[in-house]
Amino acid sequence: MVLPIVAYGDPVLRKKGVEIAKDYPNLQQLIDDMFETMERAKGVGLAAPQVNKSIRLFVIDSTRMYDEGEENEGIREVFINAKIIDETGDEWGYEEGCLSIPTIREDVYREEDIVIQYYDREFNFREKKFTGLTARVIQHEYDHIEGILFIDHLKPLKKSLLKGRLDNISKGKVSVEYKMKFPKV
Ligand code: NI
Repeated sequence: MVLPIVAYGDPVLRKKGVEIAKDYPNLQQLIDDMFETMERAKGVGLAAPQVNKSIRLFVIDSTRMYDEGEENEGIREVFINAKIIDETGDEWGYEEGCLSIPTIREDVYREEDIVIQYYDREFNFREKKFTGLTARVIQHEYDHIEGILFIDHLKPLKKSLLKGRLDNISKGKVSVEYKMKFPKV
């Protein structure tokens, strides 16, 4: 089932997600719904707060960011109760967007490599290292479960210039091709 995506301005996007247990109600269905919602919106990642659930869960599909045959082919993965334990490497800029903040795209600088601990959808514990675009998507989604949005990484002047457009997004005054829930409508 495709779920509505919460738009900028909704307080749920600012809450820190709580950890969940293996018996969290309808977890497998929620994960399937999140993948379906992400794919319908042509996203590469989606975090639970974006579907109005303040929990530490996000899904990623970075495979379509890479060309076929590239050494790094991206991942399609579920991250539960994730914790980034190390971030290293040079900061590099990349133009990010967010399904909760449609039409706005800005360069964000992040470190290149991460080490992350998490549980997969079967609740197996994992510790893995990711780099480049896949690390970038994980860092963006990880921010969501911490109540942080990509625009928070922009310089204050840049962010203040976006204020009018952000207000319009909260009010639903934006053209978007997937189902959204707007806080100020
Ligand atoms: Ni996002």
